[in-house]
Amino acid sequence: MLKNKNIVLGVTGGIAAYKACDLVSRLVKAEANVDVIMTQNATKFINPLTFQSLSSNQVIVDMFKEPKYWEIQHISLAKKADLFIIAPATANIIGKIANGIADDMLTTTVMATKAPVVFAPAMNCNMYENPILQSNIERLKALGYKFIEPSKGRLACGDMGIGKMAEPDVIESYINSMLDRKKDFAGKTIIVTAGPTREAIDPVRYISNHSTGKMGYAIAQKAMARGAKVYLISGPTILKAPEGVQLISVNSAKDMQKRIMEHYDEANIVIMSAAVADYAPAISHQQKMKKDNEKLSIELVKNPDILYELGKIKGDKILVGFAMETQDLIENAKEKVIKKNLDFIVANDLYTEGAGFGTDTNVVKIIDRKGNVDSLPKMTKLDLADLILDRILKL
Ligand code: CTP
Repeated sequence: MLKNKNIVLGVTGGIAAYKACDLVSRLVKAEANVDVIMTQNATKFINPLTFQSLSSNQVIVDMFKEPKYWEIQHISLAKKADLFIIAPATANIIGKIANGIADDMLTTTVMATKAPVVFAPAMNCNMYENPILQSNIERLKALGYKFIEPSKGRLACGDMGIGKMAEPDVIESYINSMLDRKKDFAGKTIIVTAGPTREAIDPVRYISNHSTGKMGYAIAQKAMARGAKVYLISGPTILKAPEGVQLISVNSAKDMQKRIMEHYDEANIVIMSAAVADYAPAISHQQKMKKDNEKLSIELVKNPDILYELGKIKGDKILVGFAMETQDLIENAKEKVIKKNLDFIVANDLYTEGAGFGTDTNVVKIIDRKGNVDSLPKMTKLDLADLILDRILKL
């Protein structure tokens, strides 16, 4: 519900600015408090007085025109916002924000806000398809900014194509669904594992893999935001644990297994996104190994398959696995769901563009116990985290 929510609307210079008037009117009817910030160019399309009358709030345009207020305003609006929406968003504003430019009231306030920021782009189709704009959009999406896709149709310039700003009712329902995320995991305890494991060869060297932990940290962040108690059991990464989760740092697979078991009884859900090393050196030397020989063999022994062991004592817990494959993705993943007694598995192919280690996006297939395969489009790891949690709720 939008009642008493603080929505800051940024209006930039495009003809679709007239639709932003309808948007303000709708939001106000839904009892939201709307503050409008316009760019100078936007005022060439719509008079600020229109937004002022519709929102019953002062409209801010130039940060230097009101020297008494500007300093307070751009920070206070940034702080006050429950949600920030820029509609219409021109190629210019998207480019500026993607590149950290803060040279007017709107860009400065966007940079200062911690609220979710949503763009509703509107522009000529060739501009929209321009790779520079598209890469700016990708960059912002990867940082968690949201976009409401423009639609196709006849544009103001006469061209036919993509670039029409989403209709105000579509934007309103998008805002509604963003603000309406309930604490739907309240009362649940989730164990999320993340990152690689390190298997020591000696005090200096180890065997590991390229996992960065981004996917697991995204799940922990979202589960926390949705009200769960979260144990994030993580191999070594450079990531900062999300606010509020209980971080347990581990090194080896055996370490990880031990720490999971300490909290397993308490957990309702376990999501194994860690890239657990399958083998560890049979002997981990106490002292640094010297390069005395021309050849060196290291004997490896199998690590415990943590998820397989958890599957044996699943009970009524929900178990979710991940699988990264380089071939036969679906067949391999289907086998793992059954073998490890999982509710579902999130599978990705290392060689798919936008998937894999260290990226901010992922392209996955979700495969359940019945063998149903759901192929998802490329999305940010944060959005995928929400989607995985939504799916768990449905079980
Ligand atoms: N996993 C685990 N313990 C291991 C290896 C993997 O708990 N020793 C978990 C992973 O966290 C992941 C799932 O099992 O959720 C599948 O991991 P993956 O490496 O794809 O599969 P493996 O079972 O290791 O099989 P293979 O390496 O032969 O593909």
